[in-house]
Parts: sequence; C-alpha cells; structure tokens
Amino acid sequence: MPKLYQIPAFADRPLEATPNTIGTQGEFSQGAIEVAQRTFSIVKPDAVRKGFAGAILAEIDRAGFQIVAIKKQSISKQQAKGFYAVHAGKPFFDGLTAFMSSGPLVLMVLEKENAIADLRKLMGATNPASAEEGTLRKRFAGSMTENAIHGSDGEDTAAFEIGYWFAGYELI
Ligand code: CMP
Repeated sequence: MPKLYQIPAFADRPLEATPNTIGTQGEFSQGAIEVAQRTFSIVKPDAVRKGFAGAILAEIDRAGFQIVAIKKQSISKQQAKGFYAVHAGKPFFDGLTAFMSSGPLVLMVLEKENAIADLRKLMGATNPASAEEGTLRKRFAGSMTENAIHGSDGEDTAAFEIGYWFAGYELI
C-alpha cells in the first residue's frame, strides 16, 4: 500500500519534479508525495572489509530497489548502542555494538513496493548457516554477528532507523 510522506512547505516547484515520486494514481494533498515503501539497510563492516559492498549493492539494484540515500562512514560504539537499543541487555549486545563500530559501513535508505519484506527475503536468515542458497547472507556473511547486511524488520523499525541515520533533507 503506497504511503504518503510529508515534505516541507518549500515546494515552489511542481510536485512532479520532486525525485522519487511515484505519483501516478490518487490525488496528492498539498505538501505530500506518494512513494513506494522505504526500508533502511546497512552493509556491515565485515562485508565492507572483505570488498563485498559493490557486489551487495549490485544485487540490491538488480532486485529493483531505488537508492534514496546512501553514505559510507564509521560509527562510534555509542551510536551503535543507540541504533540497536532494542537489543540492550542481550548477551550478544556488547559484541554486536563493538563489531558495528569496528570499521566503515554503508548506510542506505531503499525504496520499492514491499521494500521491507523483499529486502529481508534477499538478505536471508540472520544466521548465515541457516540462510537459503542465493541470499546475500549465504553468499557474503560469516557468522550471526558478522552477517554482512542489516535490513529493517517492520514499518515502525524502518521509520526509526531511517530517522536515526538520515536527516529529512537527505531523503528528498
Ligand atoms: P541485524 O539484522 O543487524 O539485527 C540485529 C543483529 O544482532 C543481527 O543482525 C545479528 O547480527 C545480531 N544477532 C541477533 N541474534 C544474535 C545472537 N543470538 N547472537 C549473536 N548475534 C545476534
């Protein structure tokens, strides 16, 4: 189901000129654009270190996702703890946040119909040992923690994760 995203009131140009619109059906309310579903993804430090980022991006592109925003950066352990706050207190939390802050990663906002579920299917199971053949984790991941790629697991999570790493002006 397409979703309406509010955009700032600066829109002094036609809405049709705004990138990433899919507005072919329905009516636009003023200051809103109709877009396909968005999800958030990370190419994790293990995959970047091993030189797999390009191959993973190519698969994401081949699967029909639009890259709305992308940046490569290193993050602090504190930033990783905030991002994974839902897992705070779990036995793997310290190792996970240490790993995520161990080297550069690639942060992305991706868009397509059914983006959240489709990306999770493309990624495969969290544990690469159980991931299906052909999935990104089966091909590129080494372990449960060093599992190559992250993808949001639901609409609320996607909204939180996109907002955690990207400012509104980066998503237009
Ligand atoms: P991700 O999709 O980034 O979401 C949370 C991450 O925590 C997950 O991928 C794994 O890397 C990690 N994780 C989840 N469960 C475990 C576990 N049981 N042991 C170690 N790491 C885990």
